[in-house]
Amino acid sequence: MAILLDQESSDSSFFKSSIRDTSRKMLSKSEHVFEQTSVRQSLTSKPYMPWESGKSPSLNDSQFLQWQALLEDRTGMYINIYHRSLLESNLIIRMREIECSDFDEYFKKVCSKPEGIVEWSILLDRIMVQETRFYRNAESLDLFSAYLNEKFNTNELQHKSRPLNIWSVGCSSGEEPYTLAILCQEAIKKTGSTCTFGITATDISLPVLVKAREGIYNARRLLDLKSTLIDHYFEALEGNKFQVKDSLKKKVCFSMANMIDIEKSPLRNMDIIYCQNVLIYFRKERKHIILDSLVERLAPGGLLVIGQGEAFDWHNSQVSRVTDNQTLAYIRQATQEH
Ligand SMILES: C[S@@+](CC[C@H](N)C(=O)[O-])C[C@H]1O[C@@H](n2cnc3c(N)ncnc32)[C@H](O)[C@@H]1O
Repeated sequence: MAILLDQESSDSSFFKSSIRDTSRKMLSKSEHVFEQTSVRQSLTSKPYMPWESGKSPSLNDSQFLQWQALLEDRTGMYINIYHRSLLESNLIIRMREIECSDFDEYFKKVCSKPEGIVEWSILLDRIMVQETRFYRNAESLDLFSAYLNEKFNTNELQHKSRPLNIWSVGCSSGEEPYTLAILCQEAIKKTGSTCTFGITATDISLPVLVKAREGIYNARRLLDLKSTLIDHYFEALEGNKFQVKDSLKKKVCFSMANMIDIEKSPLRNMDIIYCQNVLIYFRKERKHIILDSLVERLAPGGLLVIGQGEAFDWHNSQVSRVTDNQTLAYIRQATQEH
């Protein structure tokens, strides 16, 4: 769905690719659902559903506002009016699966406690754009590696006698944090550093976190990795799949966290916070609050990497912008006591 992009986003190519990602995702999900539904329909007799006669329910204005508010309130995602029909399609697909024919009834179901919690989690997984891949956002990763090399070369961290702390925010199915872990291992190898590191990877969606912990990917998901890296960090499984080796997996800790509750996050003293393709779904004011909170969670001298075009009109006196036209990143002033 989703595309809950801010109207202020000026990165049109990013916008278009998000729409493409979303449409692809919706299409594949709906194909799956319609396939399942038609099999079920042919096998069982079930109550009358309005769409059986070719009529789907449609979301009226007040229902749209209700769903829009619920999603923004619970996740921070802002669905603008242009994406109303996408929201409607996603809701209909899920309602069809559970044989619910009315938006108000489904809304009540999702809001009911505790029964609605599971349904909410399923719906969220349907609505969120979870598009990701290994070695995505090359420019941001180059900046990440350059920062690592500098740290490891000077062995600065050894003096701190603790591992380098990294946070992958909105990690989806794990490709991003595993990429960061590979880059760390490679930087350690290259510099001969004795430093260690740990990555905390968080997401709002439980199903993607399950996939991430499993760390199993189809071979085509690894196309952007050099074969030497695949041999080193993955085990080949049957069915043209690869699993992340335990030695790399143990460097990444996956956990559920909602960015809108960032104030409650116990994460602190991060050396690098990597937050890509997540803030695009939030409105400017919320985005700024989250960015300020991320800065609070950076160690002095720490690096915050966000995607190009993901924050407009944001300033925080505790950070300085890294001079790089290709990505958006900030360093927290080293003089701050933490
Ligand atoms: C488009 S994916 C980006 C994945 C990865 N960062 C990348 O760039 O490849 C966005 C991810 O952000 C997560 N997300 C969206 N809203 C969130 C929130 N409020 N709190 C935490 N994660 C959220 C989604 O579940 C999804 O997995």
